[in-house]
Amino acid sequence: MISAPDQALDRLLSKSRIGANQRLEDVWAEIAEAPADPDDRLAGHLAQQFLLGEEVTAQACARLQRQLPSAVARNCLAVQYEDETRHAALYRRFLGDKPTCTTNGDALNLIGERIMAWRGPPEAVILAIHVILEGEALAHQETARRFTACPRFAALSHRIARDEARHVAFGQHYLPAALAETAAEDRYRMYLWLRSLWFDCMERLPAALNLSSINRILARSWTRHRWEHWRSRLLALGLLDGEDYAPPEKSPPLL
Ligand SMILES: [Fe+2]
Ligand SMILES: [Fe+2]
Repeated sequence: MISAPDQALDRLLSKSRIGANQRLEDVWAEIAEAPADPDDRLAGHLAQQFLLGEEVTAQACARLQRQLPSAVARNCLAVQYEDETRHAALYRRFLGDKPTCTTNGDALNLIGERIMAWRGPPEAVILAIHVILEGEALAHQETARRFTACPRFAALSHRIARDEARHVAFGQHYLPAALAETAAEDRYRMYLWLRSLWFDCMERLPAALNLSSINRILARSWTRHRWEHWRSRLLALGLLDGEDYAPPEKSPPLL
């Protein structure tokens, strides 16, 4: 008998395959119907940031595909790998020969390195990628559309956000049952790994963005505030159940 989470993943997989079967050329032709605004430098800058995120996510999916016990979950990740590869190709087309300049490269490289070095349950990587990174990327896509004026960038962002919402849904369907079967000790280790990944990544951003002192203070405050949001999401997914959660004696390292 197929478990309830696998049934939900199976439905998600059917929807995902519709998008994955579209040819890159056709997807790009739809996006390119919207005019580009070559003066919108912010759109180009943001596309470069998103491109790096796509590459890190594709790398994580390739690794996770070999690790999960559920065949339907592995199939979802195989389709997601194709999605992320297609997204990266679309961003490259959008960028054309624009010069490369990324401010969040250090933070994203760190995520890639930590994921490759992680030796615990693969669910930690799903929490990092499908809950936190993709959750931040979805919110960032919305903000990016509000602050840019390039119609082609908006079309690209909308198209990609549709797939990203399915990737976030994968985590929501897969994680609760998988975490319920994970030993409390492992879950706590995963929590500490995620917290350190979050604060270490955020520590790299103010330097890369060359922020003033006051903006560094604001960034530090946002980092703590936003972590509380992700921490409550992790609790809701069952990473910690309260009984096995001992608050850290020291505050996490900040910027
Ligand atoms: Fe993506
Ligand atoms: Fe994604």
